[in-house]
Amino acid sequence: MRPYVLLVASVAALGGLLFGYDTGVISGAILFITKDFSLSTRLQEFTISVVLLGCIAGSAVAGTIADAIGRRLTLFTAGIIFLAGALASAFTPDEPVLLAGRFIVGIGIGFSSVVAPLYISEVSPAAVRGALVSLYQFAITVGILGAYLIDYAFAHAGLWREMLGFAVVPSLVLIVGMIFMPESPRYLFKVGHDSRARDELQRITDDLDATSREENSIRESLKVKSAGFAAFKVPAVGLALFIGVSLAVLQQVTGINTVIYYGPQIFQMAGIASNSASILAQTLVGTVNMLMTLVAIFFVDRVGRKPLLYAGLAGMFIALTTIGGAFAQPHLSGSLGTIALSSMMLYVGCFAFSLGPIVWLLISEIFPLPARGLGMSLSTLANWVGNFLVSQFFLTMIDKLGRPLTFWLYAALCVVTIVFVRTMVPETKRELLEEIRVQVA
Ligand code: BGC
Repeated sequence: MRPYVLLVASVAALGGLLFGYDTGVISGAILFITKDFSLSTRLQEFTISVVLLGCIAGSAVAGTIADAIGRRLTLFTAGIIFLAGALASAFTPDEPVLLAGRFIVGIGIGFSSVVAPLYISEVSPAAVRGALVSLYQFAITVGILGAYLIDYAFAHAGLWREMLGFAVVPSLVLIVGMIFMPESPRYLFKVGHDSRARDELQRITDDLDATSREENSIRESLKVKSAGFAAFKVPAVGLALFIGVSLAVLQQVTGINTVIYYGPQIFQMAGIASNSASILAQTLVGTVNMLMTLVAIFFVDRVGRKPLLYAGLAGMFIALTTIGGAFAQPHLSGSLGTIALSSMMLYVGCFAFSLGPIVWLLISEIFPLPARGLGMSLSTLANWVGNFLVSQFFLTMIDKLGRPLTFWLYAALCVVTIVFVRTMVPETKRELLEEIRVQVA
């Protein structure tokens, strides 16, 4: 692989870093915002979740925008939105402006969660596409861990404005970086800039045979004219949408963000008494999440997407069943608490090398070029709606169903996901993007 391709993917992956940072940072900041603005519980919850509403709005329109103005310019715009949102939140005089700032940040996340994986997959040679799109997930996890650490660093003085404002730094890098990045060759073919498109393809790989095979497959794929939503009437494209939306929802309803967003609370349920110990445990969650993503980067193009998904989901199932079992005991102390905590780490680690990166990868791969922007937008939108619902109702579920049942429900959904992957999802390892087909029975 050329260093150039790695550079392009890394700059785009900054969108993932901001995604992780901006979703993670609020967990620490909220404690101090609540105090400064004397927030009611209602407003406190809304200050946390308003970013997800922005993500829903941003992801709904991002694909259409990326099809209209190009992948590169859309990511550049995402950088500007991130910057504006970070500045508004950091310098806010009051709660309403903070809410507006966080909503704007959410729009930036929504944009980048659609366009960054899409762009990376379109500029990657087939043989390393899995690793490069997984780099995006790696950046998300770096952002989440970075947020926990920055929160920790500023917590002693309660500097929440600095916590939120820190996102200005990666936003600027993304903006400046995208000025120098190329447009995706696939998008260039789509809008008829053939010679520029060919040049870009040749910068990706020096294998001329591969380039011309790729060009042919792109042209073939473009013969089907894009017709917005009507494209999904073609059975294979409709099925790709069904697979994309389902995978995106399953990534959320198997519970990952209960641990990412509510980790410290869960640790306290499992017997860690002090605030600082539970925040420290959360840093460990962030580290495991980040490190285990490297496993995906290494293996996803070697063993393929589906084997990693099976292994990760099996581990998640075992971990969740154990956590539920531990919570079913009357007292969670001593070794039982340790088992619950280790299972939590196992759960996050297994997610990190499977459902985490591979869902973003697959939804960037399964749509034919004319329907790719819209297909990714709709799948990502579903992901954010799933995220919103799970994180909104987690504490209510614990209240109504009890802890064991809540975790067993997530475990059952891991089984559903395994069956879904087995029966519906194509293996896309090393295939040229345009040659990936979903099977219509
Ligand atoms: C998911 C996020 C999650 C993150 C955790 C991403 O793939 O979409 O919802 O917070 O992984 O690393």
